[in-house]
Amino acid sequence: MDKFIIRGGNPLVGTVRISGAKNSALPCMAAAILTEEEVTLENIPQVRDIATERRLLASMGAAVELHESVTPEDAPSSATGEGASLKHTTISCRSLSDPVARYEIVKTMRASSLVLGPLMARSGVARVAMPGGCAIGGRPIDLHIKGLEKMGAVILQEHGYLEARVDSGVGRLRGAHIVFDRITVTGTEDLLMAAVLAEGETLLENCAREPEVVDLAQLLIAMGARIEGAGTSSMRVHGVSSLHGARYRINPDRIEAGTFLIAGAITGGDLIVANCNVDHLGAVIAKLRESGVRVDVLGPGAVRVRAAERLRAADISTEEYPGFPTDMQAQYMALATQAEGVSLVRENIFENRFMHVQELVRMGANIKVDGNAATVRGPARLSSAAVMCSDLRASASLVLAALVADGESVIDRVYHMDRGYERFEEKLRSVGAQIQRLGDVFAPRPENPEPADQPA
Ligand code: EPZ
Repeated sequence: MDKFIIRGGNPLVGTVRISGAKNSALPCMAAAILTEEEVTLENIPQVRDIATERRLLASMGAAVELHESVTPEDAPSSATGEGASLKHTTISCRSLSDPVARYEIVKTMRASSLVLGPLMARSGVARVAMPGGCAIGGRPIDLHIKGLEKMGAVILQEHGYLEARVDSGVGRLRGAHIVFDRITVTGTEDLLMAAVLAEGETLLENCAREPEVVDLAQLLIAMGARIEGAGTSSMRVHGVSSLHGARYRINPDRIEAGTFLIAGAITGGDLIVANCNVDHLGAVIAKLRESGVRVDVLGPGAVRVRAAERLRAADISTEEYPGFPTDMQAQYMALATQAEGVSLVRENIFENRFMHVQELVRMGANIKVDGNAATVRGPARLSSAAVMCSDLRASASLVLAALVADGESVIDRVYHMDRGYERFEEKLRSVGAQIQRLGDVFAPRPENPEPADQPA
């Protein structure tokens, strides 16, 4: 398993370019199921979760191709030192020979459940492995199921699978009035995709307002769907009989952008985060400014972050968008270990999203957890250590801490990071971080290894 070796102490200086949003790409790729025509998605991040979703769609019979081309807007940039090629993925679900999301794939990425709604809308039948929980919580999908049943789906749970079909009496999903018991991002996305081909009108209330939901809605509208209210808590969908192909560019990843803003702040650097969408960073920028970090918006797609003269403690409480994102909680906690005073970090979205705390404490942080609240006392001098990643965003928190810790830290199980951060160590190195990736020295031999040289 790959590791990162990080020597702390270097301020990050320069410009990094943000990649496309993983959590937009995943539902948008699933949306290709809704048409027999080609869907082309630009600015797809090359991360493990995207590769998993490609495998999932291919396993159902879809033709999925990754293309690379350099276009003017992706000309060589200082951020990565080479021409960032514009990768786009073309998905054609002309024939879905096997509408099954198998456990072997779903167990590696619970967002696979996003194929449930589109499969029900497209073919009225789906067999989807129940996603297990994960490090940060139980992650049920009861609200996805409840909404689909209101639209006429009959869903049985057996042998670890959801066996779903549209009630024979209705033929195809029918529009319904659905009020989510609690705000769910992929629940909103799943049911939005089910509704666009349903008979009649669907009103979805208490929807997630995340930018990733808006990305999906904009793709669906480009494919011919009729959706009002995307980005608000109520969406009205007029079902259509079919959708056509489309080409759509995924928005930049707001969580990657936030992670780099904190990297610039925690290292005392002077960093420009480019190719981002500043409109999606409101809560994060406001909190960084509250703690004394200097943040200057340079334009709609670029933000400059410089170290605070004095980094002050500031509390956070994670909320659904546009509140402070739960996906930035671990990264902010790393910064809070360096702030003067006591920061209260309250996690309201997931029941177990403090897996990074013990590892940060092992590096010298002063953090006490009580239920869903963590009290961070700073500033604490962090020293390098061997630490282990547990989930995607906790991994980012450990990298941020290692960038400011004395000495050389070893961060194990970085495959968690590879799920959602594209070329993370390259981007960090390009602005001065001392970080190296160590492959597993006993990595499995490549298949069909070249015949050994004949002995002399
Ligand atoms: C999405 O997960 C993101 N993943 C997560 O990002 C993100 O942390 C989360 O939204 C919250 O913003 C993707 O978009 C692929 P939820 P999702 O449904 O949709 C409960 C990352 O780091 N709930 O909004 O699974 C649930 O347990 C990942 O990139 C139900 O009870 O999250 C949680 O407590 C991690 N029943 C809360 O709602 C349901 O049917 C919010 O979950 C669905 C959710």
